[in-house]
Amino acid sequence: MKKLTQADLIILPNIKENLFYSKLLVKEVIRELLNNNDIQIINGKITDDMVKIRISFPTDLEIGEVIIRLKKESSKAIYEKMPGLSGEVFWTDDSYLLPVNIIKKENMNESKAGLAPAKCLVTGGAGFIGSNLVDELIKLGHEVVIMDDLSSGKREYLNPTAKFYEADICDADKVEEIFSKEKFDFVFHLAAQIDVRVSVARPQYETKINVLGGLNILESCLKHKVEKFIFISTGGAIYGGEENLPANENYPTYPLSPYGINKLAFEKYLNFYHKTFGQKYITLRLANVYGPRQFKGGEGAVVAVFCDWAVNDHRLKIYGDGLQTRDFVYVGDVAEAAIKAMASDYIGELNIGTMVETNLLEIIEAIEGSINKLVDTEHYPEKVGEQRRSVLDNRRAKEILSWQPKVALEDGIKKTIEWTKSQVK
Ligand SMILES: NC(=O)c1ccc[n+]([C@@H]2O[C@H](COP(=O)([O-])OP(=O)(O)OC[C@H]3O[C@@H](n4cnc5c(N)ncnc54)[C@H](O)[C@@H]3O)[C@@H](O)[C@H]2O)c1
Repeated sequence: MKKLTQADLIILPNIKENLFYSKLLVKEVIRELLNNNDIQIINGKITDDMVKIRISFPTDLEIGEVIIRLKKESSKAIYEKMPGLSGEVFWTDDSYLLPVNIIKKENMNESKAGLAPAKCLVTGGAGFIGSNLVDELIKLGHEVVIMDDLSSGKREYLNPTAKFYEADICDADKVEEIFSKEKFDFVFHLAAQIDVRVSVARPQYETKINVLGGLNILESCLKHKVEKFIFISTGGAIYGGEENLPANENYPTYPLSPYGINKLAFEKYLNFYHKTFGQKYITLRLANVYGPRQFKGGEGAVVAVFCDWAVNDHRLKIYGDGLQTRDFVYVGDVAEAAIKAMASDYIGELNIGTMVETNLLEIIEAIEGSINKLVDTEHYPEKVGEQRRSVLDNRRAKEILSWQPKVALEDGIKKTIEWTKSQVK
């Protein structure tokens, strides 16, 4: 018999040979162990060396859902109760049945239908988008590990259920050590230097993090056979043009900053790793994301900055006439798209935006609506080189991921204002 150090799942023999039989067997065993005949298996993941299952069971109050991890004694019990089993039974050091992550019905959404619980790495998981994504992954029952150097992310955004490594993606040895230890199914790569002005001032520094750091993650994915690499790229900073909008994925790419250039360069690396080594990936090109926890120095952070000034009674600075437009997408919608990308077979780029152009004056109006008062504004000269218009065509993502943005701008701004107020207190 083989002993695993970190295994927390039942392992049954001959799984590959007879998938159906194995699934049936797991169901019977769990029913017996929990003494509950009403248990239903929703879905599961079966690989060479493990069975991970998701089950539902009726309770008095609601249909709960739980991932059952069977540890030493239960594995032993299986073995004893099923003497007909041949092959190896694996176990861990602990000795009891451990239910984790009870998910309430209202927290379930269709995106997880058909998705088995997986082990996910979220680089940049202490940041704005990353931490929102981590929360959603955990709600859905996935096991999450975060790698972040806290350069702009915050410790307080870390989901306590996730395992956290304070690590720099530029440290290749550390990255490899984490991958060897954890064995991820999916990697969401969000860690990045995201300040466009910093990228202009220090392109070498930017490239070190956003290209070379990313390559450390990608190399380890390949080495440890990660199922899929989900790369969070940018639509707002990659296309550069202002004709024939909304920009679809085939729009010419002429980034106007090292930040955009490096995101594009990394996309090309992904394509190369896929074509040459078979690494599966999806790139999500995000529009201007906004919502709770946004880092005010980042790409497209105008909503965060305006909400902050409005809540703190500061005058809002507008560069130019305020009629410049962007495509503002709510962070919760972005997290949902990233999660849906896990189940898709698509390889390549997808725009994640609303396909709606909104100007800064409209953003201010929405802010005023949600704080119920007018704000003071002050106009400054237009910033040199600033893009006038930007909006993404999201039809490919809609079709491929069956995804669409759900949160209307007014509602998203309201949530952001509420969060900004909570920070002031
Ligand atoms: N916010 C937007 O509108 C937007 C738009 C398009 C793309 N993106 C992309 O989304 C991702 C997340 O951005 P965000 O807005 O949440 O910003 P963020 O700054 O809140 O998140 C980035 C995270 O990466 C971490 N990080 C930075 N350098 C690191 C390093 N060397 N090693 C480990 N961790 C490191 C930071 O500490 C932070 O937690 C980025 O890749 C960004 O380029 C954001």
